Amino acid sequence: MFRLAWGVTGAGHFMKETLEVFLQLKKEFKVAVTVFLSRAGEEVARMYGVFEQLRKVAPGGYYQEVVLESEEGASFPKAGRFASGKYYALIVSPATSNTVAKMVFGICDTLVTTAFAQAMKSAVPVYVVPTDYDEGEVETTLPVFVDRDVCLGCSVCPPEESCPRTALVRVEGKPMVNLLKCVGCLICVNKCPHGAIIFGRRVKARVRKVDAENVKRLSEMDGVHVLKHPREIIPCLRRDLKF
Ligand SMILES: Cc1cc2nc3c(=O)[nH]c(=O)nc-3n(C[C@H](O)[C@H](O)[C@H](O)COP(=O)(O)O)c2cc1C
Repeated sequence: MFRLAWGVTGAGHFMKETLEVFLQLKKEFKVAVTVFLSRAGEEVARMYGVFEQLRKVAPGGYYQEVVLESEEGASFPKAGRFASGKYYALIVSPATSNTVAKMVFGICDTLVTTAFAQAMKSAVPVYVVPTDYDEGEVETTLPVFVDRDVCLGCSVCPPEESCPRTALVRVEGKPMVNLLKCVGCLICVNKCPHGAIIFGRRVKARVRKVDAENVKRLSEMDGVHVLKHPREIIPCLRRDLKF
């Protein structure tokens, strides 16, 4: 049984793609996975409808839990597990620019950055998939939002009425999504007769120089492998760990 640790940070980019890789890993190999979520990782995983699916990767049990930063106090005791020698590798994907910067400069103030530091101190190999890799542009996917140019501000709004989390709140007559309440169930998208609620719009974002430089620094650290896309995770694990 291969035991892996998966660190999830608060990025929309690569969130779904990484989940698919871990579902495939579970299907094809004998692996036990602990999922470590930063606070932002938990929030963003919910927004993209990924959070509940993490239980398919980590259904519970010995070293197979979903570990939440919001339940791990200030010292993140479960990140201390890397010293036990039971993990073959830590995979951080997606890794936000924030997390990459902290990894490079030795800051351990989140569950995932502490897991990273503990893995390094215990000589556990680390694989990181940053969201912002090369300077230039990156294409990313937006969570649910209301297109106010399309929304008619109907007095009875079916999406608003049907949201199980009351995440749609009226602002100047038209609903807006409170993303901290949204769980990405997409009920609202299907309920709007005018198609004003959008999920998954692709947008371009600029990769900052500082973020690309930090990725380069990260790739120069001993024991750290930086990957460009989650699809590289399985081939790298097979090559390095002889899966
Ligand atoms: C919907 C959404 C998507 C985000 N996507 C990204 C992203 O792709 N890359 C990134 O660096 N930050 C992204 N962020 C911002 C991070 O969540 C934020 O910087 C957070 O503090 C990161 O914390 P963490 O690194 O501890 O997970 C996103 C935030 C939201 C609300």
